[in-house]
Amino acid sequence: MNWFEKKIIELSKLQGYQKPEKQSETLKLDSNENFVISKQFQKDLIDAAKKNSDVREYPLGSLEKLVIALSKFLKVSPAMIGVGNGSDQILDLLLSNFCNKKTRVLTSEPTFGFFEERCKLYSIPTVKIPFSKDMTLDLEKFLQKSKNADLLYLDSPNNPTGFQFSKKELEKLIKNFAGPVIIDEAYVEFADFSILNLVKTQKNLIVVKTFSKEFGLAGLRLGYFIANKTLIDVFSRVIQYPYPLNTIAIESGILALQKSKLMYESATLIKKERKRIIENLRKTETFEVFDSKANFVLFDAKGADRRIHTALIEQGISVRKLGKIGKHEGCLRVTVGTKEMNSKFLLAIRDLLQ
Ligand SMILES: Cc1ncc(COP(=O)(O)O)c(C=O)c1O
Repeated sequence: MNWFEKKIIELSKLQGYQKPEKQSETLKLDSNENFVISKQFQKDLIDAAKKNSDVREYPLGSLEKLVIALSKFLKVSPAMIGVGNGSDQILDLLLSNFCNKKTRVLTSEPTFGFFEERCKLYSIPTVKIPFSKDMTLDLEKFLQKSKNADLLYLDSPNNPTGFQFSKKELEKLIKNFAGPVIIDEAYVEFADFSILNLVKTQKNLIVVKTFSKEFGLAGLRLGYFIANKTLIDVFSRVIQYPYPLNTIAIESGILALQKSKLMYESATLIKKERKRIIENLRKTETFEVFDSKANFVLFDAKGADRRIHTALIEQGISVRKLGKIGKHEGCLRVTVGTKEMNSKFLLAIRDLLQ
């Protein structure tokens, strides 16, 4: 067997990122997408983007326009913003270019599944601090373990638990850590605070964001990140592909940023609906339901997770089956959808428990 065949066999042992199964004709509450942003919004956006596009050409110069638009939206210098084909790609490029078998990555258990799988792919060792029984993290444990770590990754809020450290705690962790800290803020618009402004003073901080959740544009694959100018320069000039985003996605991103009011309104509604889902699930007195700062709710179905998952699918509702998380044997995660979607989900749960 030659080296290449050996490597293929080695990699074939990895599981890879587990996407949910595509269920046709179901309410899709399994991938933390944002359906409060209407299909019409997305259609109008892409129609307008098409008018600004000539896809016979490589997207020369338009990426820079997107960065300028992001810079105005975030109130951060354009020299501190990099973009990627989804924030997945940004995380992937940071790991594959800066880390190796000797880089000790500190994160939580669980953490964003894709990030974990990429560490496995590149044989990057991870130290994981488990969530406690009430699905919170202990700052002291992180401070302690960070002494022996080279890179810190936290999704804030965390997927799949919905937990977010307080701003003070997160600041303490970032300031106490000598190496790079990646804070993944994919769900930050549904939380109470963003750590973004700290990037201006903390050179080790890398904040990763996406259009997938807050703007409901997951299918366009638009991610970005904010970090010190030197890293952004190296990333954009040397590491990133010359044309990582397609023309329609770039133009749509620019136009979406002009509609940020709509995005904020959708986030407000999602937060309100999240509260309703949590309260109603708790009222059943059957599940353990965890607080969430994101656009999803995690609950321990107390051994009935498989049955509930299958029964919901039969009723045309798809939620994410996560199984064991820490001491909780059978966890399910449900995305907060539109009012109608959430009501259907809650009604189905009520019927199942009768
Ligand atoms: C924590 C976290 N980061 C990043 C992503 C991926 O975002 P994108 O669609 O920009 O690749 C997800 C998607 O579920 C996520 O949960």
